[in-house]
Parts: sequence; C-alpha cells; structure tokens
Amino acid sequence: MYTQDQLKAMVAEAAKEEVLKNMAPGGILGVGTGSTANLFIDALAPHASHFAGVVSSSQVSTDRLKSHGFLVLDSNSVESLPMYVDGADEIDPKGHMLKGGGGALTREKIVAQLAKTFVCICDGSKQVDVMGQFPLPVEVIPMASAQVSRELVHLGGVVTLRKVKGGEQAFVTDNQAWILDVAGLKITHPVELESQINQIPGVICNGLFARRKADVLLIGESGGVRRQTY
Ligand code: 5RP
Repeated sequence: MYTQDQLKAMVAEAAKEEVLKNMAPGGILGVGTGSTANLFIDALAPHASHFAGVVSSSQVSTDRLKSHGFLVLDSNSVESLPMYVDGADEIDPKGHMLKGGGGALTREKIVAQLAKTFVCICDGSKQVDVMGQFPLPVEVIPMASAQVSRELVHLGGVVTLRKVKGGEQAFVTDNQAWILDVAGLKITHPVELESQINQIPGVICNGLFARRKADVLLIGESGGVRRQTY
C-alpha cells in the first residue's frame, strides 16, 4: 500500500515522462501549483534545459522553478502552450476538476486556457463521482466579498472567507484578491455552475475547471499510475 505522498511522487514522475515524450526540445511548458505540482517541478528539474521556458501559475511555483534553473516566461509572451501540468482537489468521471485549494485558481485557469493538453496529476483520493465534497474556492474582489457571499448562499453553499493559516487575516492571492470557500454544493452540472458563478459581479474566477477540463489524467492508485484520456 502506498502513502498519499508516495502516490503523488509516482504521478509526478509519470508526468515528467509524459512531457518529455510529447514535447520536442525547445518548447514552452505550463506548470501548475500545489504539493503534487511541486513534486513534478522537482522531478523535471534535471531536464530544465529541454525547455525554452515555462509559464507558471503562481509566485510559489515561479520561485521553485527559478531555483531549479527554469526560465519563467510571462504568460503574455506566449500564444499557446503544448501542455499544462497541474494537480486537482477533485476530478469527476468526465475530467471536470475542482481546483484552488492552494489559492492559485485564477492564474491556473489562465495558463490552462493557453494549453492544448491539460495533464491532471493526482492521487486516487481526488477522484469523485460528484464534485463538491471539497469546498469550491471562489476568488473575489475584496469590496464585493459580502455581496458575493450572499449570492453563493442562495446557490445552496456555506461560505467561509479563507484566512491565512493559523491567523485571523484574510488570505490574499497573487492577484491581491480574497477567496471564499463554498462548502455544501453538490456539483452535478459543473459547466453550468462555473458560468453561473462567474456572472456574479465581483467574482474574478471560481475553481471549477469544467469548460476547460482535463485531457489526460495520471492518477496514483494502489496498483500504480493509471493513465486516462477524456
Ligand atoms: C492550487 C491547486 C492545486 O492543484 C490543488 O489544490 C491540488 O493540490 P495538491 O497537489 O497539493 O493536492 O488547485 O490552487
């Protein structure tokens, strides 16, 4: 039986192989955020020179990538990316994902949107039939947080303003915004819900990656890494 950390390390290794197999030298790769993405960055580090550069989805990933010698490019300087590799908090049977546990959802969605292929890497605990057990992160402009909270309550959610770990101050994203975590949703129609939440004034982005879902899933299970396409 593997631990969750071992499963994450196994999918990170598999993602490294997936990227090196599918990307010719000199390409630009999109890189996600989180503990699984961190392991992927570390696994890819010996191959930094294989890439002309990378586009990162957070300051934390940027710092890690730079420390390994990757050239981190501005997302505005690329028109498209062949691949984007990132983790997820939940993934449903169609490849729709719920993301943003690390607070990087908006930048993750921007970089994912540039990519031809989204490779989702996670351990088996993230695979669910219906998303919503993990609270859905919604990034908001701070002055709209109370108003957006009320709208999210109307949708059936229980809303909590994300705070810094162990403190009482609001967690501030790389975009100088706040995050509302919405518990209690049973997300049976993720494409529709993603659009509906995005229509609320003051919402920057929500953590549903349903309109731009995963293309490839590398999932760590008791029998090893399973590869699935959508
Ligand atoms: C960060 C994310 C992460 O991809 C997601 O939270 C999964 O993280 P981990 O790999 O640590 O389980 O969306 O905003």
